[in-house]
Amino acid sequence: MRQRLTDYRLFWREFRDTFHSTGAVLPSGRRLARSLASRVQAADQPQKILEVGPGTGPVTSQIISRLGPDDHLDLVELNERFADVLQDRLNSDPRWQAVANRVRVLQIPIEEVEPDIRYDVIVSGLPLNNFSCELVEQILAQFHRLAANQASLSFFEYVAVRKAKSLVAKHAERRRLAGIEQMLRREFDSWEFDRQCVLANVPPAWVHHLRLPGGMNPKQKTEVAEPAITGP
Ligand SMILES: C[S@@+](CC[C@H](N)C(=O)[O-])C[C@H]1O[C@@H](n2cnc3c(N)ncnc32)[C@H](O)[C@@H]1O
Repeated sequence: MRQRLTDYRLFWREFRDTFHSTGAVLPSGRRLARSLASRVQAADQPQKILEVGPGTGPVTSQIISRLGPDDHLDLVELNERFADVLQDRLNSDPRWQAVANRVRVLQIPIEEVEPDIRYDVIVSGLPLNNFSCELVEQILAQFHRLAANQASLSFFEYVAVRKAKSLVAKHAERRRLAGIEQMLRREFDSWEFDRQCVLANVPPAWVHHLRLPGGMNPKQKTEVAEPAITGP
């Protein structure tokens, strides 16, 4: 409980100071975290798992409880304060300590991760709707690059968030949101195999599960056409 309050406080501070990359007021609730981690499953082979944007670690906790004995987990977190929290927890929380020799915390943006490992499961907490179209395109391409053949990619977005933002946004912002919508729609049409609506979260969220064909030229699937928007 104390850990959770400390996490909430840090998350709120980071939301205030680094809204653009933190993208949420609160860490994900347990149901959302469980849904995001649900593709970490027992397999015949050891699994390589990547979590992008773990923040204070609510989804990481769920992933750790599903980790097989030979699985490896990489946590890629941009924010230094969050990366420190994750590392502290690996050093001090008994449940995390038990797997610490198979978990790495990489404090870098996902765009800069070298694709020398292909992951079987990718879980992302990135607030894509806060980013420029160019960055979203780059990140989606990076997910494809880092994916092993038939890898799963799970990520969430808050219900109706683009629509709600578009209603009050100026023209340039509406164009940005429409561009992101178009890129994500293309990903869903091509690769989505399941989605879940988690109402018991603040705010409620959609979790998307995609199956990626590793080794694809990601550019082909993520090229952005000019979104057709009219109005002021
Ligand atoms: C909405 S929070 C999600 C945190 C956590 N997964 C959760 O569900 O509570 C987004 C997280 O993504 C991280 N982040 C944002 N941009 C990133 C990037 N380019 N590379 C890696 N992490 C990034 C932020 O620092 C933050 O921890």
